[in-house]
Amino acid sequence: MTRHFLDLWQLDAAGLRAVLDEAHRRKAARKGLPKGAADADAPLAGRTLAMIFQKNSTRTRFSFDAAMRQLGGSVIISTAADMQLGRGESIEDTAKVLSRMVDAVMIRANSHADVEAFAAASTAPVINGLTDRSHPCQILADLQTFEEHRGDVAGKTIAWIGDGNNVCASFIHAAPRLDFKLRIACPEGYDPAPADLQRIADSQGQITLGRDKRAAAAGADCVVTDTWVSMGDTDKDARMAALGPFQVDDALMDLTNPDAVFLHCLPAHRDEEVTASVIDGPRSLIWDEAENRIHAQKAVLLWAFGLIG
Ligand code: CP
Ligand code: NVA
Repeated sequence: MTRHFLDLWQLDAAGLRAVLDEAHRRKAARKGLPKGAADADAPLAGRTLAMIFQKNSTRTRFSFDAAMRQLGGSVIISTAADMQLGRGESIEDTAKVLSRMVDAVMIRANSHADVEAFAAASTAPVINGLTDRSHPCQILADLQTFEEHRGDVAGKTIAWIGDGNNVCASFIHAAPRLDFKLRIACPEGYDPAPADLQRIADSQGQITLGRDKRAAAAGADCVVTDTWVSMGDTDKDARMAALGPFQVDDALMDLTNPDAVFLHCLPAHRDEEVTASVIDGPRSLIWDEAENRIHAQKAVLLWAFGLIG
């Protein structure tokens, strides 16, 4: 069966753990190598990844390209607008054509349903590079970053402060698999999507949702936030007003476990969702987090090709 990497909840605990462990192992194994050098085993030699972007990207685009090169493979990249997809060719026909030309496809799409439709029609593995609903590759890099600085995430508490958006959703999907506690604080009207609210309700208290950012951050091991205006959001003024009180600042970080770290998927808006003093301060791991997109995605690619997990 073709392995699609669409959402973290679709992997079982052992599979997700295997992906994270592989990310740690591959990062350690290539320490000191130039970024363009292939890993010693080059496990994806002869394989090609297509990447389709319906939305802007810096990290996802460059990290998947670098990841495939390090694994010995190659990439073909296009914006959706430059493809016939941008002129109305169907998702299904596009998926069937690309399945004959490349070994795997990564898509960043506006609509999660489009990625699901693509995967349903594709005989090549499909990887979700962000949709309106989730960002699974990002959360793998986040968890890898946390673990390399603070050890196994199991039993730790992560606080998500701000918009209950696509990035928040993938934390919700990962928590039950990797056994960390997740405390979400977001304003009314900016809650996670209904399916994820149900996951929170089913989590028996492992995941909580509230309106008080201080309660969420108190004693946490990690604080995470994201932009208040995601790609595709059109209600900027309302968002800035509602999310303003949810800024991550030094006073909030002072409530956490003294060892707590700060994460942000980037791009960031300093002094909006997080103060410059926090994101550029000693508790912030954002540059390791950005780098780890490469290492985590190498593990995702190996999983999608059935080589691990
Ligand atoms: N964090 C992230 O996915 O960044 P890009 O939008 O630059 O890919
Ligand atoms: N929530 C953001 C993440 C960007 C990487 C967005 O969807 O725009």
